[in-house]
Amino acid sequence: MGDIAPSFTFHDLAPSQESFRDAVFAGLSRDPKSLPCKFFYDARGSALFEKICDLPEYYLTRTEIAILDRFAADIATRLGPHCRLIELGSGASQKVRILLEALDRPAAYIAVDISREQLRKSAARLAADFPKLAVVAVCADYTRPFTLPPLPGPEGKRVGFFPGSTIGNFEPRQVVKFLADWAALLAPGGEMLIGADLKKDPKILNAAYNDKAGMNAAFNLNLLARINRELGGDFDLDRFAHVAFYDEAQGRVELYLKSLVEQSVQVAGTRFRFGAGELIHTENSYKYAIDEFRTLAAQAGFEPIHTWTDRHQLFSVHYLRRA
Ligand code: TRP
Repeated sequence: MGDIAPSFTFHDLAPSQESFRDAVFAGLSRDPKSLPCKFFYDARGSALFEKICDLPEYYLTRTEIAILDRFAADIATRLGPHCRLIELGSGASQKVRILLEALDRPAAYIAVDISREQLRKSAARLAADFPKLAVVAVCADYTRPFTLPPLPGPEGKRVGFFPGSTIGNFEPRQVVKFLADWAALLAPGGEMLIGADLKKDPKILNAAYNDKAGMNAAFNLNLLARINRELGGDFDLDRFAHVAFYDEAQGRVELYLKSLVEQSVQVAGTRFRFGAGELIHTENSYKYAIDEFRTLAAQAGFEPIHTWTDRHQLFSVHYLRRA
């Protein structure tokens, strides 16, 4: 047996600049105004989000990591040997390492992300750290239809990994559609590990999205800075503020950028007007009780096999199988 060289391939499905411009123009022309949250993650946004994950108030990331750490052996036993893990929105590929270390001879890891340079770096690093693993990086916007490149052998069952509570950023009716799309990526098998943030005391939620250090604000405002950088906008970031609150009736944290004064802003030659106090909606972050989430998953044909949580019931990791 010779040395095993790390295996790493990169596929660029080129999410286009065009789509950012179109989305910004459409979103700012609408009433009420909105901007799609997938554009938060340019290089600077991805770096800011990493900082949010380290905040004392932002319990989500560290709690999910603690759940994965604590139950890694159980998860690995249930998933079985030779898995091919597919992660959409792989970011820094931090959490998947916990699984890869615990799993029995994982065959392949397919990382899909919109943030090209971060994806390239994290996937290359992972390939170097797990030389027996076939690592495939796919730069794509997974909120639009896309097809995976042929997966490297050996054959093994496909398992979807979707941590980080990103599922909460979809509207509930989109969740069903999104999970059905996942089923197609996973066919003929169809198992998933999904992280979902639980409903809890609004005080904890409001603090998580309004941290003292102002990282949530910096992250939210970076969307306007990105428009300035990439689309020649002239947003004055001092004239907009981060707004986040938990709406208990809707079961979601709502995120906005608020115009502090009446103003007009130019983006690539087009002028957009803002009233004093006018909001741009940037994201919803839904929180799901375990049964609520299972009901949604069932509508997409996924059966709940097991759900792991932390002691304080802050966060959940669902293990689902396509019936
Ligand atoms: N997907 C993250 C979440 O729902 C995103 C997020 C965290 C976010 N903090 C934010 C989005 C602040 C906008 C503003 O937790």
